[in-house]
Amino acid sequence: MSYFTEDNSAEIVNARMGADTDPRLREVMGALVKHLHAFAREVTLTQEEWDYAIGFLTKTGQMCSGERQEFILLSDVLGFSMLVDAINNRRPKGATENTVFGPFHVADAPIRAMGENITLDGKGESCLFEGRVLDLEGQPIENACIDVWADNADGFYDVQQPDIQPKWNNRGRFFTGANGRYSFRGIKPVSYPIPDDGPVGQMLGHLGRHPYRPAHVHYLITAPGYQKLVTHTFVGEDTYLESDAVFGVKRSLIAPYEPAEGGDTQWRSKFDFVLVPA
Ligand code: BEZ
Ligand code: FE
Repeated sequence: MSYFTEDNSAEIVNARMGADTDPRLREVMGALVKHLHAFAREVTLTQEEWDYAIGFLTKTGQMCSGERQEFILLSDVLGFSMLVDAINNRRPKGATENTVFGPFHVADAPIRAMGENITLDGKGESCLFEGRVLDLEGQPIENACIDVWADNADGFYDVQQPDIQPKWNNRGRFFTGANGRYSFRGIKPVSYPIPDDGPVGQMLGHLGRHPYRPAHVHYLITAPGYQKLVTHTFVGEDTYLESDAVFGVKRSLIAPYEPAEGGDTQWRSKFDFVLVPA
């Protein structure tokens, strides 16, 4: 057995793991140490840079609270959340793709009747959202829960403005009947910046990156016997589609928005969701 050197560092550290270490923990930690050490060697990391990184991670932790998760935001802007999401949601052709969950979901949103309006603050361009929840054979799925959430016309979620927006603004849950159809009213979403008043926002600034997400509506769709679907639909032609701060855009998730004819609704967006058996 030799002592720690610049060249053998990772092997020496990994050799310290006990014989009874859980095999998966051994695999994950072993690879983490190997890649972390290789990274430091590759960039010839200076002491000042490592001290700066520790300061950054400390500030990231200090920014976390019940309402704010700066570490997930860091994972999001590094593309890591989307990579882990992709690895864990490999789906057959034809199934709706997953995307990032984000920090603004609130469980137990009000259950609403089909066609109901989720926009409670009266702001924005009204839009009718409709479509079906289907299986891979194109058959309707009954009793699917469509949990929807979106920002308001000023680009904020209700939970970011509890003193300004009505509670449950632009949120709701809808349950499909035998025909698998859903419909609700809301607004054509607008793009908005992710929370950028912390260390992650500062990092984006240093990297010459903007904090914006292209306009989208979030969906969490569950149905008995099917895999959970966490996704968005995006508005085409958004300025930020190709530079989403968190890399959540997939071509298949860009939904049509057409001007609605007649009535007082301005837009109409049709989108079918296709679920995979559990
Ligand atoms: C969102 O779309 O709500 C979101 C996703 C990731 C980070 C911040 C916000
Ligand atoms: Fe969002």
